[in-house]
Amino acid sequence: MVNFLFAGTETTGNAMAWLWHALGAHPDAERQVQAGDSAFVDRVARETLRLYPPPWLVSRRVREPLQLGAYELPAGSQVLFSPYAVQRDPASYADADRFDPDRWLPERAAQAPRHAFLSFGAGPQNCVGEGFATLEMATVTSTIAAQWRLVPVGDTKEKASATLLPSRLQMRVERRA
Ligand code: HEM
Repeated sequence: MVNFLFAGTETTGNAMAWLWHALGAHPDAERQVQAGDSAFVDRVARETLRLYPPPWLVSRRVREPLQLGAYELPAGSQVLFSPYAVQRDPASYADADRFDPDRWLPERAAQAPRHAFLSFGAGPQNCVGEGFATLEMATVTSTIAAQWRLVPVGDTKEKASATLLPSRLQMRVERRA
């Protein structure tokens, strides 16, 4: 239960902060979310997690000696890898720094290399909450967008803490007409 509480709150909370930040900077995407296009909302959530993966650094311990590309890793080594770096690599995604939810349209998503999306980790130890978190993000986004607008006040910077958070994110809440 403690693991669920810690693994499932700050991650989703920060992802939602980045989602509203991204929508605030992309009025066309915001309008499409407000129109109630649920498939688009799913793509917005995934694109937010690609650009701003809350766990920006994930680790693994090597059990047996391993040759990884040019590197020989002895058993017991700790390997850190960054979903943030992988997901902003132009080798994996065209125009990698651009917020483009439609890159997750099925025909375009199929072009992304395998394991180029690591926001929920990968392999047997990956996030057990992935399905719940994506459903939660889509539900909260649609529910808020139906009645409210979150308008950015000033900009923010990425802050790499235990998770990737906005340094400061001020938004004005407006009721939709
Ligand atoms: C946007 C939200 C979330 C993100 C980005 C996220 C991401 C991650 C990542 C990257 C890992 C490590 C995976 C690995 O090492 O390969 C992880 C592990 C885990 N997550 Fe999530 N998570 C999210 C939400 C949640 C939620 C909502 C829950 C529970 C309800 C949850 C429960 C867990 C648990 C229990 C683990 C540890 C799994 C293990 O060690 O076997 N996560 N998560």
